[in-house]
Amino acid sequence: MKIVFIGDIVGSVGRKALKAMLPKLKHAHPNAVFIANGENAAAGRGITAAIAREFYDWGIHGLTMGNHTWDQKEIFDFIDDDERMVRPANFPPGTPGRGHTVIKVKDKELVIVNLQGRTFLPPIDCPFRKADEIVEALKKKYKYVLVDFHAEATSEKIAMGWHLDGRVSAVVGTHTHVQTNDNRVLPGGTAYVTDVGMTGPRDGILGMERLAVLQKFKTQLPVRFVTDEGKWHLNAVVIELHDTGLAKNIQLVRFDEDQVWFD
Ligand SMILES: [Fe+2]
Ligand SMILES: [Fe+2]
Repeated sequence: MKIVFIGDIVGSVGRKALKAMLPKLKHAHPNAVFIANGENAAAGRGITAAIAREFYDWGIHGLTMGNHTWDQKEIFDFIDDDERMVRPANFPPGTPGRGHTVIKVKDKELVIVNLQGRTFLPPIDCPFRKADEIVEALKKKYKYVLVDFHAEATSEKIAMGWHLDGRVSAVVGTHTHVQTNDNRVLPGGTAYVTDVGMTGPRDGILGMERLAVLQKFKTQLPVRFVTDEGKWHLNAVVIELHDTGLAKNIQLVRFDEDQVWFD
């Protein structure tokens, strides 16, 4: 089993990056399961049904979300019916959508789980206890489990990696939009990276137009942030799993619009 996980797709520039690079990634990894984080896909804030459909049409098999899940009102019209999309599992009980789902590709089944941290983010239910609950419920039936831990603090993400080491195939961090180079297979066999990085405007600030962000830092006055329109970069990881469900390796992927392509 091979998984390609693409970090937070930000706005139209991020969607353009995905459209440009997905065929190349599919060519390089023909049998992989392709998962992406879509929480910023609609102008940096949430996702719409049309955008999700487009991602699936292009070949994304499953989508994870995060703290921006509810930013587009129309999400409430389709998230319950979209079996390929997960929002953080530790949102309060009764929240629309699902926290984990089974993605079927050819004869393989991969469970994707979304959890959200609560350090420097809203104080929701404990992601560690929720992770235990889900892993316990799944362990008899499924071998391949990928957790997208959407969190701000590097410490909380590293803690989740160790918490789940040996119990899931991979724990990948999202949300901070900057790729970290601590990708490794932990001793128990779980692939781990603190943050996959984002897919979107390369020269903004975390995907947002940089002058507005700079103005906010310099003046402390209210400023409206919009997604940047510049060139793109795409950040992802490629994870190879043994038949046991544990990881063989996890590699970083980073593409830039200015790179020269050899097809
Ligand atoms: Fe994000
Ligand atoms: Fe986020």
